[in-house]
Amino acid sequence: MPNTIIVGAQWGDEGKGKIIDVLTDRADIVARMQGGNNAGHTVLVGDEKYILHLIPSGILRPDKRCVVGNGTVVDPVHLVDEIRGLEKLGIGIRDRLFISETAHLVFPWHRLIDEYRDRGTGGGSRLGTTKRGIGPAYGDKAARTGIRMIDLLSSRAFIPLLEQRLRINNGILGSLGAPRISRGDVADAYLEAAEVLRPHVTDTVRLLHQACGRKESILFEGAQGAFLDIDHGSYPYVTSSSTTAGGACTGTGVPPGRIDHVVGVVKAYTTRVGEGPMPTEDDDLGNHFHARGHEFGATTGRARRCGWLDAVLIRHAVMVNGIDEIAVTNLDGLDETPTLRICTGYRLDGDTIEHIPNAMGSLSRCRPVYRELPGWRSSTRECRSWTDLPPAARNYLRTVEELTGSPVRIISVGPSRSQTIELLR
Ligand code: GDP
Ligand code: IMO
Ligand code: MG
Repeated sequence: MPNTIIVGAQWGDEGKGKIIDVLTDRADIVARMQGGNNAGHTVLVGDEKYILHLIPSGILRPDKRCVVGNGTVVDPVHLVDEIRGLEKLGIGIRDRLFISETAHLVFPWHRLIDEYRDRGTGGGSRLGTTKRGIGPAYGDKAARTGIRMIDLLSSRAFIPLLEQRLRINNGILGSLGAPRISRGDVADAYLEAAEVLRPHVTDTVRLLHQACGRKESILFEGAQGAFLDIDHGSYPYVTSSSTTAGGACTGTGVPPGRIDHVVGVVKAYTTRVGEGPMPTEDDDLGNHFHARGHEFGATTGRARRCGWLDAVLIRHAVMVNGIDEIAVTNLDGLDETPTLRICTGYRLDGDTIEHIPNAMGSLSRCRPVYRELPGWRSSTRECRSWTDLPPAARNYLRTVEELTGSPVRIISVGPSRSQTIELLR
């Protein structure tokens, strides 16, 4: 399999975990390149449902190696919990989970700062973050005040750094009205986690280059989605990492010349968790999914906001990611809907536009222009080939290709591995 980047093309939760799980079969290594345990990637294997947060979804296939790359932020205590959770389910990680020694760490003060800032009382907008400390941890990385995995492995290096950061961050916590953190709250738990993680921590950049030298194939597992990207997303309602394809290179040290292919994962409709504009949001569609127990966040359990497919967004995602082909997921989610809508452009202040305005005020005022398509009103969940799909579903997918300029290569009609249609072109 060529080295392939898989990215979300919307606001996250597109079903990346499921698609990665399917494609991992053909890869040697699966690597996470950005984000932290704000991600929640759901994979169904038989009757067992796994939700991966920081560990790549590839870990569920026992012969695959997984890398947590340098571009991620790691909460060591949470990572140990995630490892233990997998082990309880019979998934071993020995000799196949590798964590970058230069990944930055998330600390309890990052989580508290995240939580208190997101109350919207500190002057910033309320973003509806996952409260996992992601923004403040990347903030420290950019400010060059972060602590990295390699620092944690030596208690002689770690403790002075910890004490210094605690002094500064307790001041920040005080100004936010948050509780202070003591050295004892952090040191023991982090040093204990370090001992569990130590055998897995390594120079993952060299590891990946050696794998490339052996012609092994790498699957890059994107977290979040294009419109949560720190540069290309709906700022400030974004996460704090590069969620688009370029992040795979900086977040792993594998250069652009080694990347062969980019797959964009597109949910057949749109969902978003957290605050920020979402032009195609539709409460009726949301109620429809929520009444069936669908579209609740895998990390925080929050009800996801739902809306129609927005081709303006996908076109932009195709452009900034260099998406070669699309995987459409949750097609079955539209099985019962009589009339479907796809947003082709926006009405903004009397004009029709076909691009995303960068000013959030403008994006909030955008009213979608829809193309209506007939629904198929029958189950696609048992379909296993293009010709199994009802004609109206094929028409919907052809319209997605037409409006986004990208070929649909994978169609997912249910959460399990077998509910996948791959089109050979
Ligand atoms: P991710 O963050 O992109 O990996 O997506 P999540 O796991 O957060 O959310 C996607 C949800 O949709 C999960 O509950 C998946 O099990 C589920 N899912 C994925 N593909 C399909 C599909 O084709 N049909 C249905 N019904 N569910 C799907
Ligand atoms: P996966 O990988 C959906 C959203 C949060 C919030 C914003 C910032 O499962 O697709 P953060 O905690 O990152 O600072 O929150 O980003 N968000 C996600 N939404 N899926 C995710 O990950 C997300 N990770 C963060 O809801 O709006
Ligand atoms: Mg998710």
